[in-house]
Amino acid sequence: KKVVLAYSGGLDTSIILKWLQTEYGCEVITFTADLGQGEELEPARAKAELLGIKPENIHIVDVREEFVRDYVFPMFRANALYEGLYLLGTSIARPLISKHLVDIAHQHGADAVAHGATGKGNDQVRFELSAYALDPSIKVIAPWREWDLTSRTKLLEFAEANQIPIAKDKRGEAPFSVDANLLHTSSEGKALENPAEEAPEYVYQRTVSPEDAPDTPEYIEVTFERGDAVAINDQAMSPATILTALNDYGRKHGIGRLDFVENRFVGMKSRGIYETPGGTILLEAHRGIEQITLDAGAGHLKDSLMPRYAELIYNGFWFSPEREMLQAAIDKSQEHVTGTVRLKLYKGNVNTVGRWSDHSLYSEAHVTFEDDAGAYDQKDAAGFIRLNALRLKLLAARNAKF
Ligand code: ARG
Ligand code: SIN
Repeated sequence: KKVVLAYSGGLDTSIILKWLQTEYGCEVITFTADLGQGEELEPARAKAELLGIKPENIHIVDVREEFVRDYVFPMFRANALYEGLYLLGTSIARPLISKHLVDIAHQHGADAVAHGATGKGNDQVRFELSAYALDPSIKVIAPWREWDLTSRTKLLEFAEANQIPIAKDKRGEAPFSVDANLLHTSSEGKALENPAEEAPEYVYQRTVSPEDAPDTPEYIEVTFERGDAVAINDQAMSPATILTALNDYGRKHGIGRLDFVENRFVGMKSRGIYETPGGTILLEAHRGIEQITLDAGAGHLKDSLMPRYAELIYNGFWFSPEREMLQAAIDKSQEHVTGTVRLKLYKGNVNTVGRWSDHSLYSEAHVTFEDDAGAYDQKDAAGFIRLNALRLKLLAARNAKF
């Protein structure tokens, strides 16, 4: 029996690795993704080898461009926000990881994949719905739902008994659970579990606090083609390079912090701290360019679909016909979303201060408060309002009687 494990190289997934070998007696194949989490990944190779994984069974893959091009950018075309605030940084990475797990399973003739998500969260759902959508016969092993290592102490005992190296700072209670990639860092648990208490500053890992951000604003220009960012300050860049650059701007100016209590798909509420520096700039920039290039009808329809689309991603239905249907509509809407946005970054804020495009629908000739030289006949508005008011008047007249 062979199983492909989503392996970070950290303590938890190392324990899972050992547990799969001893409890399940399976040959373990590891998959470690470079999603831009900002950690060295070669130590994960050494650690896997130390735990007895054959070199040909260790997969360490740089998926940063794939992540941004095929997952993050399509999602940003929709301006997706879960419950009005969350930019879905963890949610959008899970389907990509599952896709690689399944592909590697096929390569090795493995019949199972395994992950380190707990039985309480969203991530298990996302990993597994994605895996089953891609291979209906795949088996999933979720050790957190099965084993009796129910406390940190038992976990550390198991690690010690199995010669799994424990980093010194991991011996105490980890302060919180962290998930990081190019799009965001999320922190949950421990110090954050009381939603009445402000999060301590040490929780924030990739943004300076707005108080400490520069006292002078910085301006940048982001260029879009068909809804995707393609250049910053006129310099063309790949998707992952653009997001990396926007992250640097966001970090410096304290942009993209969020303290949020959300509804998990499994039914409970949870409180998290999110840092999405580049993503927050990208959302503002994308809305900025849509302002002049999107038709009102298309734009309002797209906005009304957005919460559904975001919920599908949050709940783990990336690989579903309904997400693909919405994606097709959203992508269609982006055909003319091409142009440039000028943004002002200042102490935690990002604001659009200018936008221009060859595809612009903005007509100064129509909107001007000066003489419009006959572009628009103000008399037309009288009939327009009369007909729109007709049923309101009939209603008001009826309601005056009862
Ligand atoms: N609550 C967020 C979400 O569901 C973040 C989850 C973070 N996951 C983790 N394994 N730390 O998308
Ligand atoms: C986990 O359970 O692994 C983290 C929280 C979540 O998935 O929502």
